[in-house]
Parts: sequence; C-alpha cells; structure tokens
Amino acid sequence: MDFKVNGKPVSVEAEADTPLLWVLREELALTGTKFGCGIAACGACSVHVDGELTRSCSVPLADMAGKSVTTIEGLKGADGTLHAVQQAWIEAQVPQCGYCQSGQIMAAVALIERTGSPSDEQIDEAMTNICRCGTYPRIRKAILAATGKAAAATSAPATAPAMGEA
Ligand code: FES
Ligand code: FES
Repeated sequence: MDFKVNGKPVSVEAEADTPLLWVLREELALTGTKFGCGIAACGACSVHVDGELTRSCSVPLADMAGKSVTTIEGLKGADGTLHAVQQAWIEAQVPQCGYCQSGQIMAAVALIERTGSPSDEQIDEAMTNICRCGTYPRIRKAILAATGKAAAATSAPATAPAMGEA
C-alpha cells in the first residue's frame, strides 16, 4: 500500500484490514499516536488523513491508498519548528500523564484549521477526546491561547460532561 506519512511516501506490506494505528506504530515506528480503546471512542489515536481528523484505530490500511497522513511527529509550524498549538500546550503546561495528549493536540489543530478561532461551543463540540487525568480546562486554555484569545475567557471544561466523566 502506497501513501504518504508526514509528507514522505511510504510503502507498507500489511493485511488490508490492519488498522492505520498499528501500521503507524508497528510498521513505521511512529509511536506518538496512542492506543486507548480501539473502537473510535477515546481519540488517543487521532491523526489527520488528507487534513481530516481521523481516529486511526478504526480505519483500515486499505483506505489509505494515495492518502496523506499527518501524525503528531509530523506536526510543525510554518518555520519548521513547533506548531503554534504545541507551543501553546507547553506554555499552558497541559499534560499530566501525557498519554492522551498527542490525540488532543491533533484534534485541536484540526479544529483551529477548520474554524480559525473556535468559540467555546465549537471547542465543546469538537474536543471529544478523553483525558483520564482531567486536563480539560488546560486544553481549553491552550486552544484559546493558540488562537490569540484571552485564556481567562472561560473556566468551563473543554469537553462534554459525558466524555469528561468517562
Ligand atoms: S484508540 Fe482510537 S479512539 Fe480510542
Ligand atoms: S494527560 Fe493523562 S490521560 Fe490525558
């Protein structure tokens, strides 16, 4: 299967129904993308496929022909260093254990690329990735900071309560 990962052509020999997540982690050694649930429920495995936020545990390698995948390892800013969202994450000291954070960042970047400057409602709607450490307030703060909004604009959690409690 020929496709692109982080801008580079790759050719992967694996079963067609292998989830993209395991192709990334085991065939391409891109272990920044994490396994959480395997059923598209937690978002730990989030990547971009042709610019669309995608839960890589639940898409098969067969669907990747000719596509362009971006993982956390391929995220960068215009100057080739950290993406503005990664920088905001560092400044807000978002991670606790860190396990969910690659997926959170990929979701946040997709949201900002789609909306420019997301509202609180758009953040609530889009940021459905689960964080077992409850870093949701800092996730919101970093998203707002990355888009130039005052980080103190809100203190509400950055996800729907049902997901935050999971
Ligand atoms: S591991 Fe893919 S959504 Fe949880
Ligand atoms: S930082 Fe620990 S699961 Fe999110």
